[in-house]
Amino acid sequence: MDNEKKIGILTSGGDAPGMNAAIRAVVRAAVNNDIKVLGIRHGYEGLLKADILEMNAKSVSEIMQLGGTILKTARCAEMMTAEGQERAANIYKILGLDALFVIGGDGSLTGGLKLSRLGVDIIGIPGTIDLDLDCTDYTIGFDTAVNTGMDAMNKIRDTSSSHERVSVVQVMGRNCGYIALWCGATAGAEEMLMPENGPADIDGLIRTILENRAKGKDHNLIIVAEGSGDAIAIAKAIEDATGIESRATILGYLQRGGSPTAVDRMHASAMGYEAVMAFLRGERNRVVVYKAGAYMTMDLEEGMACKRPFNRDMYRMAKTLSV
Ligand code: ADP
Ligand code: F6P
Repeated sequence: MDNEKKIGILTSGGDAPGMNAAIRAVVRAAVNNDIKVLGIRHGYEGLLKADILEMNAKSVSEIMQLGGTILKTARCAEMMTAEGQERAANIYKILGLDALFVIGGDGSLTGGLKLSRLGVDIIGIPGTIDLDLDCTDYTIGFDTAVNTGMDAMNKIRDTSSSHERVSVVQVMGRNCGYIALWCGATAGAEEMLMPENGPADIDGLIRTILENRAKGKDHNLIIVAEGSGDAIAIAKAIEDATGIESRATILGYLQRGGSPTAVDRMHASAMGYEAVMAFLRGERNRVVVYKAGAYMTMDLEEGMACKRPFNRDMYRMAKTLSV
């Protein structure tokens, strides 16, 4: 067929559980509508090298339950330059693509936005554990990461309580505190340090711990987002100031892996499907978003310009319920 449509798909930035479910959804929705799909390996790095494989319904068999991304991912410095973006746009044209589907976070979709200004037709799908894309209420991977963090905190609480210690647990989130907030709220942490609350107030934290002790709390669980400080240094500062034994745990990449939860598989499937439906409706340079319980798309430029205030009510709620 001469007029057969052809799309490319890549995953970029930090991997997130559910990215495979999103790849599966895009590939199956596309091939079932007679659209040819080229998988691009290693994100924008692979686009610049035209590192591609043709995909069909079978290529995405049995991947929904897998963490990570079968297409691999990368951070690509060349894409940050105007020359790199020009080169990527040229390769897109040489490949004869009708659209490039980008699954990734804020950085990856910003890269997509830059390409869209050079004539590349982008369809973005939010995939990041951080929940840091302000245009959407959900990003693929968040639920799995939070469940991993919550589960770890439940276990840390057992030992923290037995030894009557302070436990400082560092979770991911360089610029965004939603993982810390949700892990803290769902594991009953006594305090959550998040970038959105400004520089970590260690003196205030120490006062809170001493007040909690005075109220009969013999152990305290503190969460710190990686962007708000170093758990080891914070635990030492607490122990030095209070004399209470304090221990640090850094959850690190544990939170990025694992089989996606049902919530992530559902969002990923629905977002991937909606992305292809939008393409079939003739939409271009759009980002799929989940808003008020529905999947839809919005203009990519507008989506990337969205600013959502941090949910302070949720923080206040978690704090109030913790003691
Ligand atoms: P995430 O998509 O998870 O936020 P990054 O911020 O690391 O991850 O971005 C992933 C990749 O997207 C970068 O390595 C780069 O190739 C591309 N990218 C990020 N920001 C930009 C930008 N401002 N302009 C062009 N490309 C970008
Ligand atoms: O964007 C996801 C994320 O896991 C962030 O929470 C974290 O700050 C960052 O990626 C870590 O990136 P890297 O894989 O480069 O260490």
